[in-house]
Amino acid sequence: MRIIHVVGARPNFVKIASILRACQNVPEIESVLVHTGQHYTECMNKAFFEELAIPVPDVNLEVGSGSHAQQTAEIMKRFEPVVLKHNPDAVLVVGDVNSTLACALVAAKLGVKTIHVEAGLRSFDRTMPEEINRVLTDAISDILFVSEPSGLENLKREGIAATKIHFVGNVMIDTLELHRAKASNSRILDDLNVRAKEYAVVTLHRPSNVDQQEVLTGILDALAEIQKEIKVVFPVHPRTRERFVSAGLLQRIENLPNIVLTEPLGYLDFLKLMSEAKVVITDSGGIQEETTILGVPCLTIRENTERPVTVTEGTNILVGIDTARILTGYRDSLSTTRVCTRPKLWDGKASQRIVQVLLDAL
Ligand code: UD1
Repeated sequence: MRIIHVVGARPNFVKIASILRACQNVPEIESVLVHTGQHYTECMNKAFFEELAIPVPDVNLEVGSGSHAQQTAEIMKRFEPVVLKHNPDAVLVVGDVNSTLACALVAAKLGVKTIHVEAGLRSFDRTMPEEINRVLTDAISDILFVSEPSGLENLKREGIAATKIHFVGNVMIDTLELHRAKASNSRILDDLNVRAKEYAVVTLHRPSNVDQQEVLTGILDALAEIQKEIKVVFPVHPRTRERFVSAGLLQRIENLPNIVLTEPLGYLDFLKLMSEAKVVITDSGGIQEETTILGVPCLTIRENTERPVTVTEGTNILVGIDTARILTGYRDSLSTTRVCTRPKLWDGKASQRIVQVLLDAL
């Protein structure tokens, strides 16, 4: 059974690492890895392949950045001949980035079985590019692997046949569990001169948060207050750095005395940094899940989440984008201890379940 696995952007690498590892243990599966090249900068890309022991991709489409239409179309144009050449039994895509949808669409149109890992998540916010990618990828996939119960409900409501859907748990947590011990040896706290449980970690990259100057300024106002109380470590995504520059805000944030700006970090350093943080403030999807397992309070700078189990069972609180609400959320997170439970099947074995289903189904 030949499967083309697709990766394109940083969160995909974390997910594919555990899937490929599980496939490698099964002689019936031949894996071909295709990298679309959506993320290409060393810190967003190569570092993850090395640390997570992901094999060098068999094919790199080298699409790079562009508008959504350009990027999606270019991936499709370049991926189609790869599928024709390798003639796979299935194409497996993960997550919700442009690479996910583009490659699923190519596979489905060529009549190749399409597998979507992390299916069914919905923010119900169609202004979010990922939401469009999720809805469309699920609509054309043949096998859908779901990470949390909300995914089952969403797919059922959208009329996807129950026989296509498999609740297997969370492959991102497989990778976390596998690397936790190694990450604990990271020297990142010393490198950044911070002490365990005495700092906050911030990440921001959603277009809805960083592309509009007023919104970005409001979030920055909140961070300016928070850094008066606690040291803030902020690894800056390239998109966000560009927006700080174009909005004329870079100087302001660089001048805040208690914020440490860094380049995006590698997986192990970032895992260590999150594990030891007092609080994590983010707009990432994956980080909401990882902090739930690490038991670290997470404030999500969004009005919604496609990962509701992180709120109902985990450490996640949605605080929106309003300065005052972010600050209230921050203070509440310090003063209240939340009891959290490990979401069902987030046990480090999701990829093994995926492989078992694939062996039975294909
Ligand atoms: C993409 C995904 C998002 C995911 C995020 C993780 C889509 C629609 N969005 O967003 O779901 O959470 O990745 O990081 O697929 N850039 C670089 N180097 C890179 C990649 C990007 O400098 O390696 C810069 C470019 O200027 C680019 C911008 O970042 O225009 C945005 O990159 P893009 O891939 O379009 O989206 P992300 O914001 O990274």
